[in-house]
Amino acid sequence: MAQLWKGRFKKELARETNDFNSSISFDSRMYEEDIKGSIAHATMLGATGIIDKSEADKITTELTDILDEIKSGELEIDNEAEDIHTFIEGELTARLGQTGKRLHTARSRNDQVALDIRMTLKKEAQEVISKVKELVGVICDKAEENKETIMPGYTHLQRAQPITFGHHIMAYAAMLLRDIERLEDAYSRMNVLPLGSGAIAGTTYPLDRQMVAELLGFGGVTQNSLDGVSDRDFCVELASALSLIMVHLSRFSEEIIMWCSWEFKFVELDDAFSTGSSIMPQKKNPDIAELVRGKSGRVFGDLTTLLTVLKGIPLAYNKDMQEDKEAIFDAVDTVKMCITAFAPMLKTMTVLKDNMRNAAAKGFINATDCADYLVGKGLPFRDAYKATGELVALCIDKGLTLETLPLSEYQGICALFDEGVYEAIKLENCVFNRKVEGGPSPESVTKQIEIARAKIKSDSDNEIQYEFTETEIEEIRHLIAVPVFKEIFKDKK
Ligand code: ARG
Repeated sequence: MAQLWKGRFKKELARETNDFNSSISFDSRMYEEDIKGSIAHATMLGATGIIDKSEADKITTELTDILDEIKSGELEIDNEAEDIHTFIEGELTARLGQTGKRLHTARSRNDQVALDIRMTLKKEAQEVISKVKELVGVICDKAEENKETIMPGYTHLQRAQPITFGHHIMAYAAMLLRDIERLEDAYSRMNVLPLGSGAIAGTTYPLDRQMVAELLGFGGVTQNSLDGVSDRDFCVELASALSLIMVHLSRFSEEIIMWCSWEFKFVELDDAFSTGSSIMPQKKNPDIAELVRGKSGRVFGDLTTLLTVLKGIPLAYNKDMQEDKEAIFDAVDTVKMCITAFAPMLKTMTVLKDNMRNAAAKGFINATDCADYLVGKGLPFRDAYKATGELVALCIDKGLTLETLPLSEYQGICALFDEGVYEAIKLENCVFNRKVEGGPSPESVTKQIEIARAKIKSDSDNEIQYEFTETEIEEIRHLIAVPVFKEIFKDKK
């Protein structure tokens, strides 16, 4: 397929170089954004009189057909094309002749690709946000069912204090809610129209950039043409938010993998989300969780790729920047795929409550509560801590637990102990009395769940949308008299 930049050259690009130079294999996924961007551009060219309105009309109508045909599979994208921009413009020109050649007036592929990648990533960021919300919803449901499921909480992977499984997993909901905020924040900086920056130095044509921004649902326009074409900070920000999601999913996966082991046996994964071994008939492996943990490496790699590609390039556009797409698309696709597999795995996972409760009964995880009991009797905490430490040592010596140690032994170490200690160290009481905001008591976890559910709900109500009302669309349509406008932008409402 012919390049767009022929005039100056006497030879075709070498075959090997053509493949090396081409980005069609990975940028064709932006065909819809590319076409919609062109429709908005042509609409503006017609409305401002930069090109003839009737020609703008023909261009937008034909581009709409091209879009429909690609969507339906009627028109196949040519893999020999240099990139998606070349392909679409070439197709348009093949159909419209001279008129098609007017589309690229006052535009460069540099601001065009900067537009396409922003539009694509805005859509992807929203998709990731809804997926993360779904996962938070699954966690909330699981937590609700397990508000009273006592388990040991760990520090240093040593049994530390009693918590509930509901409380434990709501920690992941908290992380993921921050991830949503980070994605929304990155979105806000993608939401600026670069078109009009031209190749580097803007253009002499009297463009109406605000109109294009409005047509495409951008919140504003970029303020410096060099920055407009060479900024990929938003790719880095998105990759960074995605990397943190993977950190969180990877930690959660690691815990699920441990909980599946015979050493823990806290959970059992559904058969549909586990695999077997080709040689060991007894094996049931948590492969999905392991893959999620493993795939985090790809996403961190994508972030590193983006940072490295950008760090040394002078202003403004350089071809190095073509490398942004595979990295950021891989990061987006990997995260989406991981959440798609992780959420149902979590939803169908059986919580083995008795095993958690039995593990909580060992390891003296109520020792802090025993010390707190003595504090309640008037002893300073440091002395109470020491007395309890001696009790734990005594229990270990005698092969007993704090629950089974006779009162006489308690009193031998501190005279302040009476029968009430056994109530104070009951695991249920230890957990249910931790009513502090953010704590593990069922009331506190209920509140955490309520807050999380409200966030995923209110966020979806405010979902970042293209902001046009029916009447506004009508008005703009009238203003620029482009018949296909409403059809094309109907899903942007
Ligand atoms: N395929 C290119 C990219 O992804 C499009 C921009 C090409 N611009 C240029 N001046 N060669 O970056």
